[in-house]
Amino acid sequence: TKAIKGFKPDFLWGGATAANQVEGAFDQDGKGLSTADMVPFVPKEKRGLNFAIDVNSEYIDDVLAGKIQDRYPKRDGIDFYHHYKEDIALFAELGFKVFRVSINWSRIFPNGDDAQPNEAGLQFYENVFNELKKHNIEPLVTLSHYETPLGLTLKYNGWYSREVIEFYTRYAETVFTRYKDLVKYWLTFNEINVITHSPYTGGGVLIDKIPGKTSDQIAYQAVHHQFIASALATKLAHEIIPGSQVGCMLARMQTYPVTNHPDDILKAQHDNDLNLFFTDVHAKGEYPSYMDRHFADNDIVVNKEEGDDEILKNHPVDFISFSYYMSMSVTTQGEQEETAGNLVKGAVKNQYLESSDWGWQIDPKGLRVTLRDFHNRYGKPLFIVENGLGAYDKVEEDGSIHDQYRIDYLSKHIEQMKEAVKDGVDLMGYTAWGPIDLISFSTSEMSKRYGFIYVDQDDLGNGTLKRSKKDSFAWYQNVIKTNGEEL
Ligand code: BG6
Repeated sequence: TKAIKGFKPDFLWGGATAANQVEGAFDQDGKGLSTADMVPFVPKEKRGLNFAIDVNSEYIDDVLAGKIQDRYPKRDGIDFYHHYKEDIALFAELGFKVFRVSINWSRIFPNGDDAQPNEAGLQFYENVFNELKKHNIEPLVTLSHYETPLGLTLKYNGWYSREVIEFYTRYAETVFTRYKDLVKYWLTFNEINVITHSPYTGGGVLIDKIPGKTSDQIAYQAVHHQFIASALATKLAHEIIPGSQVGCMLARMQTYPVTNHPDDILKAQHDNDLNLFFTDVHAKGEYPSYMDRHFADNDIVVNKEEGDDEILKNHPVDFISFSYYMSMSVTTQGEQEETAGNLVKGAVKNQYLESSDWGWQIDPKGLRVTLRDFHNRYGKPLFIVENGLGAYDKVEEDGSIHDQYRIDYLSKHIEQMKEAVKDGVDLMGYTAWGPIDLISFSTSEMSKRYGFIYVDQDDLGNGTLKRSKKDSFAWYQNVIKTNGEEL
């Protein structure tokens, strides 16, 4: 047998975005409000390094009543809605083979439960997909990336209600039918596991409206509904679009034990299982047995309907996709310094790793570990659909931006991907997060930048929105041109 040398010739290189973080035009052409439109900008002094997401229903009621006049950066994004041709031309110049976007559900079904879709919304994405086609860029489309129509939250309490499955499949069927000749790769839910960390984001659930239940009890019920919806969407895609491929999407929380104390090993294993639960259901089509005990220990009862098990079993995903930014460490052995980081609770500092300006622990080799684990656990094709470094960029007087730190981060991760491919991992592609600067999910900052392309806008929304190339632009262009040979 011959050793594998590197990435496949048709490896899908590209970048990833989400509608609510780039599009803007939040109230144009018939779009309804989504939950992302309700996230205010909270300055760092008031929130700490990371989350700024308000989860209570009173706040939303007050916003809707006009009592709160905060700034909502995700309503404006970077105005991709009006700049998409220019932005896609830049992606084409980078050599993208694939571009990950999400459809903002509330552009298609403004209230979520409408009987008919909004034609102007459907037309916008058709234009985007046609523009990509012109440049031979394959779209990778997320159906739900933290953009639950606000109407579903207010009227049904989001995914906690089983009725939402029907609204989602109506939406999925509508877009599959409309874009069947334009889109082959689909993702059902972005970072589906994030719902257990913050139900407001993925699930659109207002927890305080369900008294007497813990947030985990609520989240796992909502996620069950999403699993069913995801399986039904997979079925629909396969029926409507021959040759289509549907993936699930997990925020991978690769977790290490700090010491070799057996309790640490068990804790890390348990935390990894709780994270991989989501891909287990999607890939294997059934709830893993280790969850029975977790549910029993935590008083969680997931209400299933007859037929649910068959739906899951009959429609597993075609491939596994995930985001990877950092790794986590946990211990049972005494007090340790905690770390910040997207969605990380109780994770402690790893003395061997450096952190980003937002406290995320940078760990390229963890990506190789993750890829190997996934490969061994599922044996399905893998797709890294988010990875990148959120950093402050400095614009020099001549307009140049020297983002060597970003190049370092990305090249080290791609190097490890290459190692994993040599280990035998079946990797379909890689889409770097935020190839163009966009609004941060967790903090709604503009200054937390991921792009190869700079966007002139600050945290308060001031700026010309002009696009310009950073040093990393030419670097990534060459990575793609050499199919990952030159890093
Ligand atoms: C993932 C999300 O959690 O990480 C993206 O899917 C998000 O929407 C990305 O933008 C980076 O996180 P942040 O908080 O730095 O924008």
